[in-house]
Parts: sequence; structure tokens; C-alpha cells
Amino acid sequence: MSEALRRLAHAGLVFDAPLSEARADALVSSLAIAPGRHVLDLGCGWGELLLRMLAAHPATTGTGVDSDRDALDRGRRQAARRGLHGRVEFVEGDCATFEDHGDVVLCVAAAHAWGGATPALRALRGIVDPGGLVLFGDGFWARPPGAVAREAVGELPVQAGLLRTAEQAGFRIVESSVSTQEEWDAFEAARRSGLEAAGDPEAVVHAAERRRRYEEGYRGALGFAWLVLAPA
Ligand SMILES: C[S@@+](CC[C@H](N)C(=O)[O-])C[C@H]1O[C@@H](n2cnc3c(N)ncnc32)[C@H](O)[C@@H]1O
Repeated sequence: MSEALRRLAHAGLVFDAPLSEARADALVSSLAIAPGRHVLDLGCGWGELLLRMLAAHPATTGTGVDSDRDALDRGRRQAARRGLHGRVEFVEGDCATFEDHGDVVLCVAAAHAWGGATPALRALRGIVDPGGLVLFGDGFWARPPGAVAREAVGELPVQAGLLRTAEQAGFRIVESSVSTQEEWDAFEAARRSGLEAAGDPEAVVHAAERRRRYEEGYRGALGFAWLVLAPA
């Protein structure tokens, strides 16, 4: 996908993951941290959840790391608009090698930066401070994928495998939930709407192809897990 098409797809999204407003609010509450503490968001995109964490928890600071310059600029603009720019830094770089730590570490839909959930979770265990929490959001196969879904998405664990991997990486599972079908449908529709609204023929074709792969392929087969994890 070209940079231009990605930007259009992002335009329709609030979060770059199947995440409703209600779940976002609940996660921000679950991840409550004290003043003076730090939130690190690895593979932050435009950092919508990071910004909501900082807005909800006074006098906390945040760092978001991503390789997508446009997404980071969107995050910086939103931080300025919400009066959070003095408390958050958006850094362009490789989140898999970024050297920092956090009291809360967010890693949502970005485990592929480490090569998958297993290496990502091992790395996150070393990054979260003692007494801290990790929010790990990642995909799993909710049912065996057909050829279209497997080709579109690739290899993933089942949900139980993802939970076991988190425990084997040295975490205790504090909370575990999965995105609903409504969250998935809303996410996919919002992604397409950004592409369709542009009126660019290439973007419209791309949106149609994404719809086909979703509806004929991974809809209902691809799950997305939200794990709140504490060091064991
Ligand atoms: C699906 S998006 C999720 C963004 C964000 N966490 C959210 O939930 O809205 C995955 C993000 O990971 C970023 N990413 C992938 N590999 C990366 C890497 N090696 N270093 C930094 N960012 C990376 C992409 O640029 C993208 O913004």
C-alpha cells in the first residue's frame, strides 16, 4: 500500500485497531497511573490512546514511537489541540529497538515490528517498570482461516496460545477481552470510508479489494485480543 493510500485510509479512523469508544474508556480506566509516571506507546501510530491516557491521568508524561512520519505529525497536532504537547513526545524510529521504559507500556497492533507476539511480549517484559502494566493488543485466529484470510493476514496463534505466550513471557494476565464483531465492522467501514471519500479511482479500487478480503476472508475468523498484563 502506498504512503498516499495509507494516509487516506487513516483519515477515516480514530484508532488504527478495532476499538470502540467504550472499550477505549474502559482500558484508560484499567491502566490508571499516578502523577509523575510515564506511558510508553510502541508502534503508536498517531497515539490516540496515548493522548487519552495522558488526558485522563494528570501530570503523567508519554512517549510514542512509530516509523510513520505522517501519523506522528497527526499525533503532535492532536497533542497541541488538547493542550498535551508539553507532556508527550512523538519520536520517529524503530519501536522494536527503541530504548526506553514505562510504568504503562502500550503495544497495540504493532507486535509485527518484533516479528510477532512471542518476541514482542518478551521484549515488553523487559521494558515495563516493576509494578507497571502493559496493554498488549494483537490478532489471533478465532476460527481456522480459509485461504483468503490466511493470505491476507498470515500466521497467528489462537486466543489460548496468545494468553499462554504472555504467561510464558513472564506476565500475569490482569484482564483479557476481545474486540466484538461490531468493533471490527466499524473499523473496516471507517478504513474504507477514508479511501472512498477521496474520490481517487485507485483508492476506491483499494477500498473495494479490502472489503472483499474482509467479507470473504477474515471477517469472523480474525480476532483481536486486548490483554492488560502485569509482570509476574
Ligand atoms: C496497526 S497500526 C496501530 C497503531 C496504534 N497502536 C493504534 O492502535 O492506533 C501499527 C503501527 O505500527 C507501526 N510500526 C510497524 N512496525 C514498526 C517499527 N518497526 N517501528 C515503529 N513503528 C512500527 C506502523 O507504522 C503503524 O503505525
